[in-house]
Amino acid sequence: MTAFKTLDDIGDVTGKRVLVRVDLNVPMNDGAVGDRTRIEAAMPTIRELADKGAIVLLLAHFGRPKGAKNPTQSLSLVMGGLEDVLGHSVMFIPECVGEGAKAGIAVLAAGDVAVLENTRFYPGEEKNDPAFADALAEIGDLYVNDAFSAAHRAHGSTEGIAHRLPAYAGRAMEAELKALDAALGNPAHPVAAVVGGAKVSSKIDVLRHLVSKVDHLIIGGGMANTFLAARGVDVGKSLCEHDLVDTANAIFEAADAAGCTIHLPYDVVVAKEFAPNPPTRTVNVHEVAADEMILDVGPAAVEALADVLKNCRTLVWNGPLGAFETPPFDTATVALAKTAAALTREGSLISVAGGGDTVAALNHARVAGDFTFVSTAGGAFLEWMEGKPLPGVDALSQ
Ligand code: 3PG
Repeated sequence: MTAFKTLDDIGDVTGKRVLVRVDLNVPMNDGAVGDRTRIEAAMPTIRELADKGAIVLLLAHFGRPKGAKNPTQSLSLVMGGLEDVLGHSVMFIPECVGEGAKAGIAVLAAGDVAVLENTRFYPGEEKNDPAFADALAEIGDLYVNDAFSAAHRAHGSTEGIAHRLPAYAGRAMEAELKALDAALGNPAHPVAAVVGGAKVSSKIDVLRHLVSKVDHLIIGGGMANTFLAARGVDVGKSLCEHDLVDTANAIFEAADAAGCTIHLPYDVVVAKEFAPNPPTRTVNVHEVAADEMILDVGPAAVEALADVLKNCRTLVWNGPLGAFETPPFDTATVALAKTAAALTREGSLISVAGGGDTVAALNHARVAGDFTFVSTAGGAFLEWMEGKPLPGVDALSQ
């Protein structure tokens, strides 16, 4: 892991303006914050800096307004949720650069927290325009990035500014980077990866990268059908990207060359319709009928996968094994997640999971709290799993 400075290195912040990049890109529900996970994740950093007497200035994006002001994407809409979680009122400054921002900041005192308007209201943000990063740097003394989930974007508030002010990782960023390093950067072997989800096409780069990193690659979800088809299995009317069979074969070859074992289900749960609780059959993969679709991994395969995890020291998980949102096709995901959680509790496994569907699946299995680390990042987690550099992280380590 490349070295980066944390809040432990930041020194005396009393009265200093600390620009803290957080991720307030939260789902809304009837005008109110629908899920507070990201707000809660930013709290340790905000509280620590405010308690130390900093003037805490929160920078964030909200939606994709594409460089134009749009009242439906104003961060003022998130203020209620933020104040509830923080437990006191927070000032909203309707600009994030320029004289308006400076005037708002000038009235703040040590220990105050303020939210600056959506950075993406300014065209310079997504272009990482040096003039915009300069303007951001003018309103602060120090920069803290606590938004791993936006670190795959080379934007003014995630990357450009880090070259202009003393830059530090916030507590959530620090925890995330340490967990990810333990999962794939410098892991204890054997390492297993579970990759599920509907389509191979969305995770080709993830799979390509993982075969060179892990000892066991467990493929589930709809994408397993494409790999089964590549092995000559007739998957009936299952979701299957037949045009990617060559890609699947190339991944098998890369895995062989790297000494990575790919695990595909050998029994599966099938149904003729994709609906809650339809009639199902559990069959060997070679017995799927032409009018049936594979919707979950079967119990024998789940047991074998549990044995794989029992022999592993590290697990990284992205994507469900079956169509987990529709019962009973959540069974395999829940069972394997429970095994991973139990092994983690016993101390024999380091388990790191991430990605939107994955967090929902682990919450559904009621085991998210038992995993070593669950990342709430979506795109950033996937790009990390693809082995791509994350500009927001790299800028902290320079
Ligand atoms: C996210 O919601 O995953 C992050 O906030 C990044 O948002 P973006 O995909 O609009 O850059």
